[in-house]
Amino acid sequence: MIECQNISYSYQDHQLNIHQVFKDLSFNIKQGERVLLLGINGCGKSTLLKILNALIFAKSGTFSYEGTKVDKSYLRSHAKTFRRDVVLQMQDPSSMLFNQSVYDEIAFGLRHFEFDNIDDRVHQWAKTFGIEKILGSSPLKLSGGQKQKVLLASLLAIEPKLLLLDEPTAHLDPLTTGWLIEFLEELKVTSLISTHNLSLAPEMGERAIVLGEGEGILYDGDIRSLLEDIPTLLHAKLVHQHTHKHLDKEHRHYHLHAWD
Ligand SMILES: Nc1ncnc2c1ncn2[C@@H]1O[C@H](COP(=O)(O)OP(=O)(O)O)[C@@H](O)[C@H]1O
Ligand SMILES: [Mg+2]
Repeated sequence: MIECQNISYSYQDHQLNIHQVFKDLSFNIKQGERVLLLGINGCGKSTLLKILNALIFAKSGTFSYEGTKVDKSYLRSHAKTFRRDVVLQMQDPSSMLFNQSVYDEIAFGLRHFEFDNIDDRVHQWAKTFGIEKILGSSPLKLSGGQKQKVLLASLLAIEPKLLLLDEPTAHLDPLTTGWLIEFLEELKVTSLISTHNLSLAPEMGERAIVLGEGEGILYDGDIRSLLEDIPTLLHAKLVHQHTHKHLDKEHRHYHLHAWD
């Protein structure tokens, strides 16, 4: 479904210094796969997801969707299909909510892409997410968890083929996190989900891609094998080694970084 070949991204700061966010990332995602994108803060997860949603473009390398290279000229001719097929939930849900009511938020994409039975679809999605009672509310006045639900309902309403989620559990309490994980399990849409929460990761996908800092891909494979691969986790700084003393005995163990 998507293919990335040697994609690199760098940016220039105000002093005109160039910063390499990542370089030479190559990977494919096939239809039906559920992939986790792991790496510590600043390693480029959000940047990569924006490239895959064609909001920004890689500085070098190619990203192809369904066999065609995605660049500015592709978007000029295929924007409507691409925008309907590939959706991104950004790290901060508030930045993506802009309609006056939750109803209009969910209806927005349906209207834009000229779906039929829009009213029925809005109500159906609101029911799925348990947000029927707030259809008349302003999305910006909702709690973090409700905003996340409204955003996901709006994105899924247009029946995308590829779902890109940027730290979807970051704003959620444990109850809503559990709900979201079960929901994603049932969904069966090809997905790439970024997180630095190693304890939740295996519940949201089967394969993990780990990004290093300013480097390439440190690991691409089964998520459960990754969790046993302490050297890779240490290199990626997803765990840290901790030494302390119990009475007179020195004791070393690893801490998984499972914060959100
Ligand atoms: N165009 C840009 N201008 C300034 N800083 C950028 C730009 N693109 C990326 N960055 C920086 O690059 C780093 C990687 O960002 P990001 O993709 O947000 O990482 P992650 O999502 O893994 O935390 C961050 O420090 C971010 O501020
Ligand atoms: Mg990020």
